[in-house]
Amino acid sequence: MKSKVLVTGANGQLGKTIRDLSTNFTKLIDFVFVEKSELDITNSKSLTLFFETNDFDYCINCAAYTNVDLAESETEIAIDINANAVKSLAENCKTYNIILIHISTDYVFDGQSTRPYNEDDPTHPINNYGASKLFGEEHIRKQLDNHFIIRTSWLYSKFNKNFVKTIFNKLKNDEKLTVITSQKGTPTSCVDLSNFITFLIINRVSNFGTYHFSAEGETTWYGLALHIAQLLDKTSNVSPIKDYPSKAKRPLYSVLSTKKVEQVTKKPLNHWKVSVDEVIKSLS
Ligand SMILES: NC(=O)c1ccc[n+]([C@@H]2O[C@H](COP(=O)([O-])OP(=O)(O)OC[C@H]3O[C@@H](n4cnc5c(N)ncnc54)[C@H](OP(=O)(O)O)[C@@H]3O)[C@@H](O)[C@H]2O)c1
Repeated sequence: MKSKVLVTGANGQLGKTIRDLSTNFTKLIDFVFVEKSELDITNSKSLTLFFETNDFDYCINCAAYTNVDLAESETEIAIDINANAVKSLAENCKTYNIILIHISTDYVFDGQSTRPYNEDDPTHPINNYGASKLFGEEHIRKQLDNHFIIRTSWLYSKFNKNFVKTIFNKLKNDEKLTVITSQKGTPTSCVDLSNFITFLIINRVSNFGTYHFSAEGETTWYGLALHIAQLLDKTSNVSPIKDYPSKAKRPLYSVLSTKKVEQVTKKPLNHWKVSVDEVIKSLS
């Protein structure tokens, strides 16, 4: 039987990627995509009405407040979207027996680790965005057993605004760039993440809980920019700088251990360079 799957926040880069790939799964999944203008997840009345009048097996929550720096001043808005609305989503999923697939972040960690973070490592966000996302996770765990919380890192895609596209466009215009070396993490393609999400649905994985999903390997923002520059033959345009001042603190090390994901999929993950190359090819 086909799974009926709701995707909230469908106009974000992850939502758009899932929509883009959805044609590969038409025999297995009926997707319903809703943007913020169609379903504002902070409006608990319309949320409940929406779930009352529709019938879903899964909800993939791609809706989020994602501006890390602005979340330092717009804290209440970030908490409203990333935590309070997520609580309402989880409550509705429980009432209507829907499996919630929620996306969270490496920024729930403080970056003091010297090895990749496991799913059960202690969390300690160092900015308001990370704190708001952690509150969201905690609400889900309290409300709903049937959930997947997928923490991911440094997302990019051919859609919307993201680091990979920004660097690509600037290098295409032959701009000179200085990029920071202080933070280490793993760039993750929305395509790879979308394929993992659909894998969970198609294979009816029932090992619910928290998963860390990223590509294989690690780098710095400078390393990522340099790799894009190599693809465009523009390495002399990119120079390293230790750090830039920013409103929000960011973890210096936020590499996620993906062992649990690999145990489920029984497949190695793409190296981050392989997935970056694919997106750059699609932009070229
Ligand atoms: N981007 C990253 O590097 C990164 C890293 C780790 C984890 N994540 C997580 O991955 C998920 C997907 O991120 P993304 O990069 O795809 O984010 P995104 O591009 O910023 O998309 C988020 C979407 O949510 C929508 N939205 C905001 N408030 C909403 C509301 N009240 N109701 C319904 N929709 C609402 C936004 O609409 P508007 O644009 O109209 O406001 C936007 O379309 C998020 O949970 C994020 O926290 C992202």
